[in-house]
Amino acid sequence: MSAKKRCAQKALTLIPDHSVIGLGGGQTVSYLVDDLASSGLDVQVVTPSMNTAWHCKEAGLQVLPTWMVDHVDAAFDGCDEVDYDYNALKSGGAIHTDEKIIASMADRYIVLVDPGKVSETLSFRHPVVLEVIQEAYSIVLRRVKELGGRPEVRRSKNKDGFLRSDHGNLILDVQFPQPDDISALDWELNHIYGVVDTSLVVGLINGVMIAKENEVVWMDQ
Ligand code: 5RP
Repeated sequence: MSAKKRCAQKALTLIPDHSVIGLGGGQTVSYLVDDLASSGLDVQVVTPSMNTAWHCKEAGLQVLPTWMVDHVDAAFDGCDEVDYDYNALKSGGAIHTDEKIIASMADRYIVLVDPGKVSETLSFRHPVVLEVIQEAYSIVLRRVKELGGRPEVRRSKNKDGFLRSDHGNLILDVQFPQPDDISALDWELNHIYGVVDTSLVVGLINGVMIAKENEVVWMDQ
């Protein structure tokens, strides 16, 4: 069995019966969907990921719209990097705003990762992603450059050439040098008018499950 599958099985043991569960995206979460479906647990799922929602539906799990939910028992997600202070960076899916809304509602927000994604301090080899309201595009570009970032708007082959979030906003990938203070950088970015949210996850994670080759390592606080 693969390390990610074992990790999903361990995550399943943290899910109470009769609960509302948050799920992000990625391969490990997808294994967790399969395990949940065969577990017989009575759960309802909220997810910002279309892939995960579709997989849940196919597997017979009930998916609720997030806006109808005000409490999540446990949420599970992947990320690109996580550190020993439980800071994480998500970059891929451009759904970080909604993932963090679900994380904020959860009693426990747990990230499921491969060992290569864990470090003492976030390396910032991945960009920080900003969801940006279009009207603020130029001023956000200016501000992030003043903060030392190198921004690049995410393009797509859709009709106007720009990738849009589910809320119709632009997605800006910003490469930053490793900051001295991750939460200060997150605070600065989140206080630029027009930035909806950053893909830095600070102060939300309660546990990290690391899918090693022969064991699943569990770090929690
Ligand atoms: C990207 C993410 C993904 O959820 C994460 O990369 C998925 O990882 P995996 O497929 O290894 O489970 O947060 O920002």
